[in-house]
Amino acid sequence: MEQDYRLFIEKVKRKTGIDLSLYKETQMKRRLTSLYQKKGFHSFQEFFQGMERDRELLYAFLDRMTINVSEFYRNRKRWDVLEEKIIPRLLSKNRNLKIWSAACSTGEEPYTIAMVLSNFLPLSEIKILATDLDENAIQKAKIGAYQERSLQEVPEQMKRKIFFKDQNHYLIHEEVKRTVTFKKHNLLADPFDKNFDLIVCRNVLIYFTEEAKNSLYKKFSASLKPGGVLFVGSTEQIFNASQYKLEPIETFFYQKIE
Ligand SMILES: C[S@@+](CC[C@H](N)C(=O)[O-])C[C@H]1O[C@@H](n2cnc3c(N)ncnc32)[C@H](O)[C@@H]1O
Repeated sequence: MEQDYRLFIEKVKRKTGIDLSLYKETQMKRRLTSLYQKKGFHSFQEFFQGMERDRELLYAFLDRMTINVSEFYRNRKRWDVLEEKIIPRLLSKNRNLKIWSAACSTGEEPYTIAMVLSNFLPLSEIKILATDLDENAIQKAKIGAYQERSLQEVPEQMKRKIFFKDQNHYLIHEEVKRTVTFKKHNLLADPFDKNFDLIVCRNVLIYFTEEAKNSLYKKFSASLKPGGVLFVGSTEQIFNASQYKLEPIETFFYQKIE
């Protein structure tokens, strides 16, 4: 790894606790280089000095490195599998499900989980933990105001049940918001809670190195109850899942071996 980027990684880690060396290098470097060039800098070192002086630049960096793209029912067919197969299976053992949406971005994912569960349980019985590294995204998630384009996959009847409309946005009803607790959490640094029935972690592992992914699968597995399920993104199949005490039960769903 070239010196300029290596030193930048060290300094960013000291300043923010974020370890860029655990993210795929080529991709991350390309994203950050185009940002610093746009801001008029010529090297990572110069860019870091800029970030020390100007908080706005630090925010721009955080915004660029956390890719917040999300939508409700992202890869809709997978959510149908969750609803038709996985949730009934989990509920047959226990009605009090402990659920975590890890790297939840601006909230579309945990609110989708709430929508799916609302077909089985009253909203007052639904509890979802939702975490992300990016405080800005969490703030937006808590506000719960969305553009029509992120609702494209939401079933019509669910749209009416979960959202109300103001002039420009679809807003999440308060009693739906209450089902989700949002917290800041760094998957690559912070401890994991235990005893989850369902962990949904989608479209973030693709940004991490193989080594980081490997250690995360171990940690997710340790955080699941026996029989609990990990739901990953549609490009994030786990090879050799059994080494993590996980077993594929549907495409992109892995059950902790009992
Ligand atoms: C592309 S979004 C995925 C959102 C949602 N899970 C989905 O599938 O639509 C990736 C999210 O991962 C978060 N992220 C990146 N690195 C992280 C880390 N180390 N710990 C927790 N979240 C992280 C980003 O802030 C971003 O919100």
